[in-house]
Amino acid sequence: MSDVALQTEDLTKRFGRRMAVDRLTIRVDRGDIYGFLGPNGAGKSTTLRMLLGLVRPTSGLIKFPVQNSSWEYLRARSRVGAIIETPAFYENLSARRNLQLLASLSGGVSKKRVEEVLEIVNLRERAGDPVKVYSYGMRQRLGIAQALLPTPQLIILDEPTNGLDPQGIHETRKLIRRLRHEFKLTVLLSSHLLTEIEQLCNRVGIIHEGRLLYEGGPEALTASTNLHKVRVDNLAGAFELLSKEHGLSVSQNGASFLRIDADAEALARANALLVGNGIKVYELSPAQESLEEAFLRLTSRNELN
Ligand SMILES: Nc1ncnc2c1ncn2[C@@H]1O[C@H](COP(=O)(O)OP(=O)(O)OP(=O)(O)O)[C@@H](O)[C@H]1O
Ligand SMILES: [Mg+2]
Repeated sequence: MSDVALQTEDLTKRFGRRMAVDRLTIRVDRGDIYGFLGPNGAGKSTTLRMLLGLVRPTSGLIKFPVQNSSWEYLRARSRVGAIIETPAFYENLSARRNLQLLASLSGGVSKKRVEEVLEIVNLRERAGDPVKVYSYGMRQRLGIAQALLPTPQLIILDEPTNGLDPQGIHETRKLIRRLRHEFKLTVLLSSHLLTEIEQLCNRVGIIHEGRLLYEGGPEALTASTNLHKVRVDNLAGAFELLSKEHGLSVSQNGASFLRIDADAEALARANALLVGNGIKVYELSPAQESLEEAFLRLTSRNELN
């Protein structure tokens, strides 16, 4: 069996003149929790819909591996569980009844499986309640339960924690990790939240205006740079001195630090310069670029192109 769970090649979707997804090539490996990250309108939901066969691509390929590592364009949703935006249920029926109905629609899903998925998402106790009394978080979990019904190998979740309170977010993340570890599921989820991706995913694809800006491990986004944090007794004086210095760039970072971008040599010169001018240097340390800064850097570079 292939190690790849899903792959796209130059996947493109145009709505009229608007390019929603632009030659997107991504690869999700088996066992990944893959985070599809991008701001509002980036093309995340459109991509996920294409993967599920809900929207027809303008051009490009979607490949799911089938047995014996041959490849096939597969529209059969039975092998992929998913929720796209808020799932709809029959409000007056119980959660259990909703799942039983959905199970009978997809054919061949046993009553036992309904109980299993209720157990997995921790809704068994409340499974007899009508969905109309469910909280938003419970509905999301019921959505995940529904996606799990056909015992998929890959589950696609569009912004699974959107609109949840901190407790709900925590629960959902825990559930997603459990799906990965206990049930060996591959998870593809979208989010516009950096922290979410950072905490949950082993691989990330960043999409902006329909285009892939980056794909790889989340650590590469926050790779160490030449950024340093400088704490001194005279911030304004230090800023003035360092601004004139060649080979480094300096910015004021909040009320108590300067941030300088300098290699080792320039850093040593900066330190000597500060001390030589009677400024006390309390701290000089490497500063990590936050995922947010990395994201802004990537997206603004894209805008310049
Ligand atoms: N059915 C449609 N008809 C026309 N334009 C559409 C349609 N669906 C999406 N779009 C456009 O495609 C672009 C991408 O939208 P999409 O919903 O995929 O973004 P998203 O990344 O999921 O955003 P969000 O974070 O807000 O959910 C947007 O400009 C949107 O207006
Ligand atoms: Mg969306």
